[in-house]
Amino acid sequence: MADTLVTSSVFKRRLEGKVALITGGTSGTGEATVRLFINHGAKVCIADIQDKLGEQILQSLDSGTHTRFIHCDVTKEDDISKAVDFTVETFGTIDIMVNNTEITGNIVPDIREFDIREFKKVFEVNVNGVFLGMKHAARVMIPRGKGSIISIANVASTIGGVGSHSYTCSKHAVVGFTKSLAEILGRHGIRVNCVSPPYAVPTGVTPLHLQPGERNGDVVKGFSAAVEPHANLKGVDLESDDVAEAMLFLASDEARFVSGLNLVLGGGFTGVSSQQPTIAF
Ligand SMILES: NC(=O)c1ccc[n+]([C@@H]2O[C@H](COP(=O)([O-])OP(=O)(O)OC[C@H]3O[C@@H](n4cnc5c(N)ncnc54)[C@H](O)[C@@H]3O)[C@@H](O)[C@H]2O)c1
Repeated sequence: MADTLVTSSVFKRRLEGKVALITGGTSGTGEATVRLFINHGAKVCIADIQDKLGEQILQSLDSGTHTRFIHCDVTKEDDISKAVDFTVETFGTIDIMVNNTEITGNIVPDIREFDIREFKKVFEVNVNGVFLGMKHAARVMIPRGKGSIISIANVASTIGGVGSHSYTCSKHAVVGFTKSLAEILGRHGIRVNCVSPPYAVPTGVTPLHLQPGERNGDVVKGFSAAVEPHANLKGVDLESDDVAEAMLFLASDEARFVSGLNLVLGGGFTGVSSQQPTIAF
């Protein structure tokens, strides 16, 4: 009896009956989010440029029963528009839009040597891609008077010095756009939020987020060591699944009154000083 109670309270399918479109869902936090959403009863369409990986994920999940893949370059409005239409045609609607794609941009600390083309390239994926995802999701959600739009920012959306110039600016823009749109779409019953992990979730792009001097050896394995001096919270190593759990919360009805939020998963990274305290405890 006790076991039954524990099981049912631990595993409640929090997205039963919902449909999600996830950009950049073939790797890293995007893939972790796809898998978690499926486990929680959602039907998911993955939109990404990595076709082969997309097909592999479908096969590993359910051969496409609850999951579909569509090739989509988020910098192209036609691709995003088609991905939204494909999701609606396949699963009937879109309840949750996750804007997860990114490129990191080269770290060029000296502004005098910083090429504007590099800046534009990062903005095209990280900001324009999010803008297009929001715009076309809103096209489906506004007439229904409900929906949840979630974008991935980074702690670089709140502080400088943890990413390239272009990446830092792009993630600040994601937060600004989230708040601006939350104001407008809230009037239509649509929630708009974003999640900000630190620069240190072990995924395929991890090495690019680290300073060149920190990219030695097995980066993913040694990742905690690179982050450790900066995070205040000890004893926990942030993983893609932790980011996916934050997305699950924002996608679910548990967050039904949450909008305009930048949910920072920093482990104290941005909230407290990592310097030695001046007061002895
Ligand atoms: N890994 C980290 O340390 C970290 C930290 C904080 C925030 N983030 C954010 O998390 C999100 C996911 O990053 P990740 O670490 O899982 O990286 P990732 O490289 O594993 O995933 C990014 C995905 O975006 C896709 N993508 C890139 N350009 C695209 C385009 N033009 N059109 C469609 N898809 C495209 C890639 O194919 C890939 O599947 C990003 O927004 C990133 O900024 C990552």
